[in-house]
Amino acid sequence: MANLDWTRLGFAYRKTNTILSCSYKDGEWGPVESHTDDNLTISAFAGALHYSVECFEGLKAFRGADGKVRLFRPEENAKRLQRSANFIGIAAPSVDRFLEMCVRVVKENIDFLPPYGSQASMYLRPTLIGVNPQLGVKSSTECLFLMLCAPVGAYTGGTLQPSYTVISRDYDRAAPNGTGSFKLGCNYAASLYSYNLAHKLGYEAVLYLDPSHHAYIDEFGSSNFFAIRDNSYITPKSDSILPSITNKSLETVAKELGMTVERRQVPVEELSSFEEVGECGTAVVITPVYRIDDKPALESQEVKPYLFGSKDQCGPKSLKLYKMIRGIQDGEIEDPFGWCLFV
Ligand SMILES: Cc1ncc(COP(=O)(O)O)c(C=O)c1O
Repeated sequence: MANLDWTRLGFAYRKTNTILSCSYKDGEWGPVESHTDDNLTISAFAGALHYSVECFEGLKAFRGADGKVRLFRPEENAKRLQRSANFIGIAAPSVDRFLEMCVRVVKENIDFLPPYGSQASMYLRPTLIGVNPQLGVKSSTECLFLMLCAPVGAYTGGTLQPSYTVISRDYDRAAPNGTGSFKLGCNYAASLYSYNLAHKLGYEAVLYLDPSHHAYIDEFGSSNFFAIRDNSYITPKSDSILPSITNKSLETVAKELGMTVERRQVPVEELSSFEEVGECGTAVVITPVYRIDDKPALESQEVKPYLFGSKDQCGPKSLKLYKMIRGIQDGEIEDPFGWCLFV
């Protein structure tokens, strides 16, 4: 096993043994190739570099209590990548090819897979880019599919530290009827200005509103929004948010735990009635939110704060949901939904 301090990994680039690639040219996918060098040679005229002909995924592999290695719901990521690629008009790998490359990249980098109990895991970053030289705005005809990985820590060291967030009313991450529901690099570029500004102001995350009305909650910059009131799990229904695989899993678990699930428009004012609020996504499953500031603009002095639970503790229902998902990922709880793919 690689000689790393697994408890201090954070979420950062780290050189591993290999990356995998597979090329699409002349209407066909070629063989999967393994490379020890992370550097690519592509045309400076590649569509990915000019017109953001790019989409990607994020998923994790875990070393379980039983010594087995599990990938969490990789088929869902394969299908979401196909949906993103279809939107930008490029070829995507088949689900089988996607899964084969997930398994292989974990095997080739197994010494970077953190040990059970460290709260760390291996993050997989499937990435699809348009590579043929072009000048005009067009979907690419040649693509490169990459399967990358890196060992990562739980963002917050596994302590479920609640976060301090702000609503962005002066910047949107997605347009109405736009690209918000696809995992395209361009969406993240669109969120960087507001994220950087919010970060400078001391906030850990930005909560975006629906871009048509600015009346309903959409999602955070890199995670979905959920709230808990009474025995209900409430999460926004919107065409401009990423369909999070973690959120979908939490909805299933919430129902399993006897909660009601409401996926519907969530007006901003409803924040005042929620007992618990959280961010959810692959990175940490759940980050509890203890405060959301609503301001007319990010830099405005006028603030309407919404507070939830404790500043240093996750709410009880969020914690229950978190433990069930993490238990399944770590092989501590039987996986009744067949979510895990064994490596
Ligand atoms: C914008 C955005 N929303 C939501 C999520 C959560 O999606 P998932 O649970 O599939 O990781 C992510 C990525 O993690 C994201 O980037």
